[in-house]
Amino acid sequence: MQIAASLLSADFVNLKASLENVAGVDFFHVDVMDGHFVPNLTFGPCVLKNLNAHFDTPLDVHLMVEDPLFFVDLYKDLQPAFITLHVESTSHLHRSVHYIKSLGIKAGVSLNPATPLCGLDYIIQDLDLVLLMSVNPGFGGQSFIPFTFEKIRAFRKRFPHFQGALEVDGGVNAHNAPLLRACGANLLVVGHYLFTHANPAQALQALRAS
Ligand code: DX5
Ligand code: ZN
Repeated sequence: MQIAASLLSADFVNLKASLENVAGVDFFHVDVMDGHFVPNLTFGPCVLKNLNAHFDTPLDVHLMVEDPLFFVDLYKDLQPAFITLHVESTSHLHRSVHYIKSLGIKAGVSLNPATPLCGLDYIIQDLDLVLLMSVNPGFGGQSFIPFTFEKIRAFRKRFPHFQGALEVDGGVNAHNAPLLRACGANLLVVGHYLFTHANPAQALQALRAS
């Protein structure tokens, strides 16, 4: 089980110190928002460029935007480990996934909670990562939507040969992490739970132990 720390809940005033507290995560999960696909804005590539200079932790970029290819071009020079776009935000999923891969970056596709798995049927063989949203995207600190457990199990049943990362994003904590793993997730995004914990390093340990 791998853990990605969602920067959205980090302390933006003391970003470096805040992220040093969770050193040891497998990825920094970067939520990119455009104020259109989701009703919020976050950080841009300049912030991440500065982060990259201080940390070796690979970036897991999650694009919650209406024009994903524009944002792929903005973030590609940071050489993130993954760039993930939403199935709901592009009419040219196949082209977009292959564009990301042509840059030497692993490609992911995300589904909002109510989006059915069948949207992945003709692209799954090309994906390095599938991200199942367990909250409606746009904000950190929301409550986990329980039907996600069933959706993960359904994913594993529908795509038994998928070898990539199956990531779950939203409301993840030390209580639901073991259940998510048992259902078949292998990469968990954790924001609020990690960064609001009195001792983030301990919270990370608890997640790993769970
Ligand atoms: C929500 C974002 C998530 C969020 C997860 O739109 O995609 O990555 O920050 O954070 P928590 O763990 O706080 O739900
Ligand atoms: Zn995210």
